[in-house]
Amino acid sequence: MRPLTIIRRSLVTLLIVATAALSPGCDSVDAPPDDLTLRDLAERNNLQIGTAVEASEVADRTYADLIRTEFNSLTAGNAMKFGPLRPTINTFDWTNADAIVDFAESHRMEVRGHTLLWHSQNPSWLINQPWSRAQMIEMMRQHITTVVGRYRGRVSAWDVVNEAFNEDGTLRSTIWLTRIGPEYIEMAFDFANQADPDARLFINEYSAEGRGPKSDAVFNLVSDLRQRGVPVHGVGMQMHVSTSWAPPAADVAWNMNRLRELGVEVHITEMDVRMPLPVTDAKLQQQAQIYREMLDVCLEALNCTSFTIWGFTDLHSWIPDHFPGQGAALIFDEALNPKPAYDALRRALE
Ligand code: G3I
Repeated sequence: MRPLTIIRRSLVTLLIVATAALSPGCDSVDAPPDDLTLRDLAERNNLQIGTAVEASEVADRTYADLIRTEFNSLTAGNAMKFGPLRPTINTFDWTNADAIVDFAESHRMEVRGHTLLWHSQNPSWLINQPWSRAQMIEMMRQHITTVVGRYRGRVSAWDVVNEAFNEDGTLRSTIWLTRIGPEYIEMAFDFANQADPDARLFINEYSAEGRGPKSDAVFNLVSDLRQRGVPVHGVGMQMHVSTSWAPPAADVAWNMNRLRELGVEVHITEMDVRMPLPVTDAKLQQQAQIYREMLDVCLEALNCTSFTIWGFTDLHSWIPDHFPGQGAALIFDEALNPKPAYDALRRALE
């Protein structure tokens, strides 16, 4: 993390502590003034607060107004994945990715690029042909160079490799691993770094936020890569959790701290908190508490600089399709009304 960021974050922390000490009568559960959005409050904390979006959402005035006022960072939910970006071997389709990057720029927002290499959403021309190892490396090089090169200076952080591990910490058997070998990971980081030396390069993973074999595997990989001079700058913690289960906040704090000791940043990259339907007030309160705990952990960690939610309205979320009977995982309801989780995030940022 840049030294200035650390200094600014430390000053903010000191200020908060001092203010609390000087105002013993101040009720800490008071909400911040209503006219301050998540974005306003996050910027006071020098934090990126983000959401995943589709191009259709930034093109729709109703959503766009909410997105630009509440968030200062955007991630393309699908538009920058290999398949959507390169439907045929000879065609790149930049329409949706460009729309998201243009929108972000016109509203002074950061962009997290998601994602260069993944096992999912790859085009059939890539998976169904028996490409040789050398051809796969060349395809990977072309893809990363073209995509990162196109957005050089405009996308501040890339999820270079997404979900590389199995639950037990072994490497997932993806087309990249099986056809190239484990060295595909360092090659990808090198290609991305050559295409944009200023972009922050992340490995992004789910269920690796707290303690466990997967979190150890991510830590060990990043440690090894950094010792060998591979340009990896951060770890993305996806944080897809539920009202029934989330990693203990203390474990997440511990993990962030050991990553800080390696010299890497952490971003919360895809947070949502699903619940079994129907929605009840108790579940909404529980959800709000989990969002708040994780944001508190991020704010307290000196190396956690970005907090992204995987969408913003319950109307558009991947959860109901993938977890039948569950939903309501985001911070605005289906009618775009703020939920208790929204207020909880504002209070954490206050
Ligand atoms: O674009 C096609 C459209 O042409 C077609 O008509 C429609 C019919 O179903 O499908 C559309 O594609 C869907 C795509 O989302 C865009 O909406 C895919 O079927 C659907 O599988 C895809 O789901 C995405 C999922 O990744 C794929 O695994 C979700 O939107 C997206 O939110 C989700 O995001 C992932 C992160 O990238 C990585 N971490 C986990 C996270 C949640 O699964």
